[in-house]
Amino acid sequence: MTKVVAFVNLKGGVGKTTLAVNFAAFCVQKKERTLLIDVDPQTNASLWVMGFDGWEAHADKKGTVADLMGVGNHKKAQGKEKNAADVLAAKTQNFGFDLIPSHLDLFTIDFDLASAQKKVEKLKEAIVPILGNYDVVVIDCPPNLTVPTQSALAFATHFVVPTAADFLSAIGIALLINRVQEKGKELDNSPALAGVVISKATSRPSAVREKIENAIRKNPNFGAHVLEGKLVERTTVMDCTQNRRSVFSSKNRAAVHEFTMACKLILDEIQEDAL
Ligand SMILES: Nc1ncnc2c1ncn2[C@@H]1O[C@H](COP(=O)(O)OP(=O)(O)OP(=O)(O)O)[C@@H](O)[C@H]1O
Ligand SMILES: [Mg+2]
Repeated sequence: MTKVVAFVNLKGGVGKTTLAVNFAAFCVQKKERTLLIDVDPQTNASLWVMGFDGWEAHADKKGTVADLMGVGNHKKAQGKEKNAADVLAAKTQNFGFDLIPSHLDLFTIDFDLASAQKKVEKLKEAIVPILGNYDVVVIDCPPNLTVPTQSALAFATHFVVPTAADFLSAIGIALLINRVQEKGKELDNSPALAGVVISKATSRPSAVREKIENAIRKNPNFGAHVLEGKLVERTTVMDCTQNRRSVFSSKNRAAVHEFTMACKLILDEIQEDAL
């Protein structure tokens, strides 16, 4: 069965996109047939993988996830329904996974489709026909629970929560997990928590941070799901984004090690359910 993993957090800038893209690249290295779907109107994952010119050309010529969700400019211009195969970029350069890029049109999808029926099921309906082509589908979500994230939760088998180890983020994790699970149920789906990942951690020793990190790991509600290790904030990670590469192409052994460990644990977790 195809595993569909949504990367979610209501907080912005916590490393969702960074982990989602690198996890998809990791899955390719492990010979998993992998699709990345970008449902964030900020289009960060799409721009990282395709570059601005590549994304623009693709969005103009082939369309984006916005077409699948019923709000694409492209669809309006062409006057015909796009399907998943139409808008897909196959075997992306430097990464190897297939990509369905996002579009800024998604920023207003909640308003544009305000009166539409079953709007959060449109993405699922569009992806189901190609789901069998993949072992793993990764979905990069925006930092909110609006229609794009709900569309992911309507068919995700799992979700991953990257989080910073600071006081406010720590408080938010339990609320977020509850909210995601409630939303899943409302949508007739029950995505399982595949891991909470401590991300953008500082390498400088800090007693306060260490205390918060320990509290996160020992939390009675979700502590058992916090993955071992953490992703430290490193310049090389940002450089990889700019160079349109995954962290795994970096010469920084610490960064490669940290991302390899996190991705391996997530992949093991989502595959465990198949046994
Ligand atoms: N381990 C890391 N080391 C250095 N920089 C990082 C690391 N992880 C993420 N960043 C940087 O932090 C910024 C935010 O990361 P990212 O875009 O992955 O967060 P996000 O949760 O997806 O944000 P948003 O909520 O806006 O979608 C980016 O500039 C990214 O390059
Ligand atoms: Mg992001």
